[in-house]
Amino acid sequence: MSRLDNALNFEDLRKLARKKLPAPLFNYIDGGADNESNVRGNTLAFDTAKLVPEYLIDVSDISLTTRVLGRELAMPLLLSPTGMTRLFHPAGETAVSRAASAAGVHYALSTVGSTSIEDVAAASDGPRCFQIYVMKDRSLTHEFIQRCKDARYDALILTVDLPVASNRERELRYGFTMPPKLNLAGIAGFAVKPGWIFNYLSHPPALLANVVHKIPQGSSQRSSLMEYVAKQFDTAVTWDDLEWMISEWGGPFAVKGILSPSDARKAVDVGASAVMVSNHGGRQLDGALSSFEALGPIVDEVGGECEIICDGGIRRGTHVLKALARGATACSTGRPYLYGLAAGGEAGVAKMLKLLRTELKIDMGLLGCRSINEVSGKHISGTIHRNHA
Ligand code: GLV
Repeated sequence: MSRLDNALNFEDLRKLARKKLPAPLFNYIDGGADNESNVRGNTLAFDTAKLVPEYLIDVSDISLTTRVLGRELAMPLLLSPTGMTRLFHPAGETAVSRAASAAGVHYALSTVGSTSIEDVAAASDGPRCFQIYVMKDRSLTHEFIQRCKDARYDALILTVDLPVASNRERELRYGFTMPPKLNLAGIAGFAVKPGWIFNYLSHPPALLANVVHKIPQGSSQRSSLMEYVAKQFDTAVTWDDLEWMISEWGGPFAVKGILSPSDARKAVDVGASAVMVSNHGGRQLDGALSSFEALGPIVDEVGGECEIICDGGIRRGTHVLKALARGATACSTGRPYLYGLAAGGEAGVAKMLKLLRTELKIDMGLLGCRSINEVSGKHISGTIHRNHA
């Protein structure tokens, strides 16, 4: 039995990833902003909430299917956009999108991904969306929208919570920088992982595949990945730009990074079909609300008017059920699939998805629910929200 076969939960995958990855890369995935209180807080908020099961219900046939961002999914899950995925395994975004497709969940490719929009589309027919950061060169946004139409993407996601680069001390401490330039800790971190080095050197280098042709090369100033890219981001993006993007795209459109009910309202008013309640996995404004804490008030404000996807901190099937009970349409998660990818490529991502699916089926039965629609406000203690009793 391989180590992957022995993994019982996401924490086991995280431990495997830590063994395989050079420290700068593991810490890029694992870390967050400032004190990383939101990284812990996202999961803690789910752990703290309490489910209310009901019994003597025939749960011999449980369905996890649901519809999100224009596609029928086999379970209510999206794989969140993450940057430079090929650094963690040479098969990178292609492997993640294939595993997502096989498991019937959405895969969101990032603007700062290391595989092109077209190559991800060629990898599978699975549900796929593209996450946009608006760059200073506005022609890139037009280009992204056209390329996603040509490559038959199901949906677009605009991430709004990166107006400036955050303070991520682990990236600086371990020397995860762009252009790559290692400090002593970084060199030591890579030197003890010859397997990773061999893999990396025997494949084409990981580049920002979707923006590399537009970003000026040759800068020698060292900065974190996000700082590097944030220099290219347009900080003057407003709700008017969003309205324009939504009408130009003409299909399912999600706004990611929403924590306030009034922003959720604005997103719906300009035509978004979904909001992703998210604090960027604790990687941006540390001390902001956790995604689960922010969810209830947002459901009160826009529940029933758009899809609501709860992103960040999901480590268990019960976490997904708690979000659904609070009114979410689905959940989204990033780190767990990256741990799986680093641990075992496509098989590692498939393992992560299988673990979640297995837990969800058990937990639905224990909660007394036969379908995703049946999970409702009565299944969670505390506030029953207006639009989701
Ligand atoms: C990318 O979006 C990151 O948080 O590193």
